[in-house]
Amino acid sequence: MRLSPTTFEELRRLIHGLCGLVLGPDKAYLIHHRLEPLMRQQGIPSFEDLCVRLRQLDSSQLRDALVEAITTRETSFFRDRHVFDGFRRHALPQILNGGAGERGNAPPLRLWSAGVSTGQEAFSLAILLYEHAASISAARTTWSVVASDISASALELAQRAEYRLAELRRGLTPEEVSRHFEPHGAHWRVRQPIRQLVEFRRANLMQPFQGLGMFDAIFCRNVLIYFDEAARRAICRQFETMLPAGGWLVLGTAENLYGISDAFVSVPCGEALLYRKRPSASVRN
Ligand SMILES: C[S@@+](CC[C@H](N)C(=O)[O-])C[C@H]1O[C@@H](n2cnc3c(N)ncnc32)[C@H](O)[C@@H]1O
Repeated sequence: MRLSPTTFEELRRLIHGLCGLVLGPDKAYLIHHRLEPLMRQQGIPSFEDLCVRLRQLDSSQLRDALVEAITTRETSFFRDRHVFDGFRRHALPQILNGGAGERGNAPPLRLWSAGVSTGQEAFSLAILLYEHAASISAARTTWSVVASDISASALELAQRAEYRLAELRRGLTPEEVSRHFEPHGAHWRVRQPIRQLVEFRRANLMQPFQGLGMFDAIFCRNVLIYFDEAARRAICRQFETMLPAGGWLVLGTAENLYGISDAFVSVPCGEALLYRKRPSASVRN
């Protein structure tokens, strides 16, 4: 299908406005590869027609479908295991010791997986918490993981909590699989005690999301990498308001806050580099 430079420009702008994704001038192939199946399915004959349809006021379903088609959902359980190890060994004990700030008597422990895709990151965190239940429950009465994504279909899969064995093998040991999953038809289902720790919410990081509340740690991994600096700054400003002084921000291994935010300081945690909100960082609402 032909994609003229003008239409490519318009689609790039539209996609950036909808979900923050920045498509460089060399990414026309991605538009072809990811949008043509959607267009065939919707009976849209050309990219020009796609733009016309997207400009219409009642195009919210098509816009959602476009975001679904263009975003990357690559994920796995305990992706970059050393990051989860660093969080468990260094950050979690400090959170439990009140290192994330005084928030009254036995406040709930809250973690957020922002851009959770099909759920693996949130269930990895839930497994991590569950396996340390004894030390956590000594410090906090309730604990939970909020899992959010812009993609409704990714969230639907995440909520189902069912995975193929091949997906489990990407990141989990056989012992972890048998401890935390049970056979469910052709899939394996996350066991109830882990499932019940995770709460799913649809949230676009390009829009205000502070309504999700305060967290001890925010995992936003392999998401900001797709955005431009202005979007990363705006998102980090919101993260800042949702963490207490000393709260933790965990990014992907290829991501950093250099030139994006000085409200956080990087902290080596074993082999991982995590971020912590500076005690003096002001909370901007
Ligand atoms: C590559 S996956 C990362 C999944 C997981 N965090 C990990 O590291 O394995 C990126 C996820 O970010 C989501 N995403 C992209 N743009 C978003 C936005 N504007 N708001 C919220 N989520 C977004 C995508 O739908 C996708 O599920």
